[in-house]
Amino acid sequence: MKTIAIISSSVRRGRNSHRVALYIRNYIEENNLAKAEIVDLDEYDFPLFDERLRLQKDPLPGAVSFAATISDADGVIIVTPEYNGGYPASLKNVVDLLYDEWRRKPVAISTVSDGPFGGTQVITSMQFSLWKIGAWTVPAMFPVPKVTDSFDETGVPADKAAADKRAAKFISELIWCIDAKSLMALRPPV
Ligand SMILES: Cc1cc2nc3c(=O)[nH]c(=O)nc-3n(C[C@H](O)[C@H](O)[C@H](O)COP(=O)(O)O)c2cc1C
Repeated sequence: MKTIAIISSSVRRGRNSHRVALYIRNYIEENNLAKAEIVDLDEYDFPLFDERLRLQKDPLPGAVSFAATISDADGVIIVTPEYNGGYPASLKNVVDLLYDEWRRKPVAISTVSDGPFGGTQVITSMQFSLWKIGAWTVPAMFPVPKVTDSFDETGVPADKAAADKRAAKFISELIWCIDAKSLMALRPPV
């Protein structure tokens, strides 16, 4: 079975975008699409890294385990809030921590805001950083406006049919990319 790591990137006290990570994990599992694991940056409680992991002499066990989770996942979903039109420092901290682990990794991005626009401004900077580091960003979106109206604290959507319809499209695009990558790996070398 495929594995999908869902990065919940807000470490803010009283954060709300984590609701979306919970919903996506539940949706994937309910529909038996993959094994889904939430990678919660708040739980990792990382310091601000002063060097990339591969150059660190004595890396934190948590950083090593984070790297292994990303490396082993067939695909990654990043749930990011929009902070002043960009993505949070907690997320930049872990994007820059790794390198090889991101290369050609199918990554889908869900953007979250408490306002009406669903974090649509953050997608460009997130996409660009991931493209630059060699990840394979998936051409699908899962923007969530008015997050506290849309999902409760346990990730239950206010309108399950509507949320599931959008999630199906978003996650099927990620799975298509994961499958396409597996097929490419089976090709004889040219
Ligand atoms: C520092 C900061 C900057 C923010 N900037 C924006 C913004 O540019 N656009 C927006 O729609 N919401 C913005 N918000 C509100 C977030 O959308 C809101 O907190 C939402 O719940 C997602 O973030 P959270 O998971 O940290 O709660 C900002 C929140 C913080 C804490």
